[in-house]
Amino acid sequence: MDTMTRLASLTAETAASLFPDAQGLPGAEELRGLLAVPPDPALGDYAFPCFRLAKPLRMAPPKIAEALCSAWSHPEVAEVRPVNGYMNFFLNRANFAAEIMAELKEKKDRFCASDIGNGKTICLDYSSINIAKRFHIGHLSTTMLGHSLKRIYDFLGYRTVGINHLGDWGTQFGKMICAYKKWGSKEEVEKSGVDALTALYVRFHEEAEKDPALEDEGRAWFKKIEDGDEEALAIFSWFKELTLKDAARVYDMLGVTFDSYAGESFYNDKMEPVIQDLRDKGLLTLSEGAQVVDLSEDKMPPCLILKSDGTTIYATRDLAAAVYRQNTYHFDKCLYVVAYQQDLHFRQVFRVLEKMGYDWAKNCVHVAFGMVSFEGEALSTRKGNVVLLEDLLDQAVSKAREIIEEKSPNLENKDDVARQIGIGAVVYTDLSNNRIKDIDFRWDRALNFDGESGPYVQYTHARCCSLLRKAEGITAEPDWSALTDDEAQALLRLLSRFPDVVLEAADKYEPSMITRAVTDIAQAFNKYYYEHRILDGEPAQAAARVALADATRQIIKTGLYLIGIEAPERM
Ligand code: ARG
Repeated sequence: MDTMTRLASLTAETAASLFPDAQGLPGAEELRGLLAVPPDPALGDYAFPCFRLAKPLRMAPPKIAEALCSAWSHPEVAEVRPVNGYMNFFLNRANFAAEIMAELKEKKDRFCASDIGNGKTICLDYSSINIAKRFHIGHLSTTMLGHSLKRIYDFLGYRTVGINHLGDWGTQFGKMICAYKKWGSKEEVEKSGVDALTALYVRFHEEAEKDPALEDEGRAWFKKIEDGDEEALAIFSWFKELTLKDAARVYDMLGVTFDSYAGESFYNDKMEPVIQDLRDKGLLTLSEGAQVVDLSEDKMPPCLILKSDGTTIYATRDLAAAVYRQNTYHFDKCLYVVAYQQDLHFRQVFRVLEKMGYDWAKNCVHVAFGMVSFEGEALSTRKGNVVLLEDLLDQAVSKAREIIEEKSPNLENKDDVARQIGIGAVVYTDLSNNRIKDIDFRWDRALNFDGESGPYVQYTHARCCSLLRKAEGITAEPDWSALTDDEAQALLRLLSRFPDVVLEAADKYEPSMITRAVTDIAQAFNKYYYEHRILDGEPAQAAARVALADATRQIIKTGLYLIGIEAPERM
């Protein structure tokens, strides 16, 4: 049982024994929810507001606080002070330290893990890149948010299914094949990959301005893909392969993986039953030649299902995908990690699923996020200033390499550490704010070893590792009373709260809470490190301080892992 749960149940017991006749006293569980952590540690480690007891006890909160405080006694609590209707708890510091350290020692890197997700499945749709396009930094957030959420849910015991819902369907692919047949060459495409495809696409549009008949040819090729024509499919699969080979390099660098690459085209033969179902349920209406689901009751524009020429669209595919995922994985939740620009799209799709009578539609969640700009400049494909993710990561690694050369010229595996730091810097920046906020990526901030950055947190981890290497000779039993100073207690408090942070991050789909927590822990540790000589003094006291460094190392490592960042032991 953790400290908060114990304090809550002791408070409930004390109230019940002091006021045996009171009716409707809240139980321990409700009290635990009310227990707060005061913003200022001078007000105690925990505070309980007595307002909730005023009605059942028919007493003013300050009186209740006084009564409960004077009746209170427990070795875990050094003092309980009534302040303005609150009970302020001051824990027995040595005891608090001993408890957390014992728990950490027992659970090791499963300290914040849990089994609350056992037996439940979460589908995560993330990254979802588009075929024949380069991987630019516009797809960084979806990739890293999704990857991090997947790790978080895995850690909490859920079964997770990571899905890369590839954008591999649309008339542009017909145009690309048409252009390839006319002006392309196998060698060129083999050599320049996705860039060659982009060039073909651009050429198609230039030529089509002069000769509009090309558009029909492009459409005809697209129809061939849809109809499963052998040649069209072969060329298209080859384009797809090239794009995925490109993307695989980026995914490898980031350590990102997927369980499924079922993209839009995967649903080619799975839409008909869904469309029939919509028709049977009387949900389809004709609007300007197109088949739509009317959503005016929900104050949304109609959801387009079939265009006037009978072809399906993005939304039709998402409907089929949702139904397929539910039937295949029986998900308890399906998360769509996609930019907020697609907000209306997902509201429409989820609403249509609901209208179809699928009660699981309420378990579909759009996990939206803001835009990324780069050194103050918005990214736009039109203006051509896209930053390729691979270039950004390469640059980050080489900048990290320069810093290492300057600061730690004798380090072994410089290349490997540079890779971990460079990529960590990019990922940290991406996951450092509330996801809905826009991000401006700046080198000086991302690679600042002293500020709030990935390298700073990684450096703190390496500092802990180095201390532990030096402390190998210390074998005494730790004396936890060495951890009763303010700095140690502040750090212990952050460590003890970490499991709750992980739960909350999962609940709010917000990995940035973990980024925040590891940063706070790193700062609290460094403060401790500067104020206290860890390895000096009595062996039993040094042993306690070393154990604290070890606990810090472990939690930072877990936290970084959960946001997709590696933790080098030396840097
Ligand atoms: N490929 C789309 C894009 O890049 C994202 C797809 C998101 N997932 C989905 N099921 N619609 O904008």
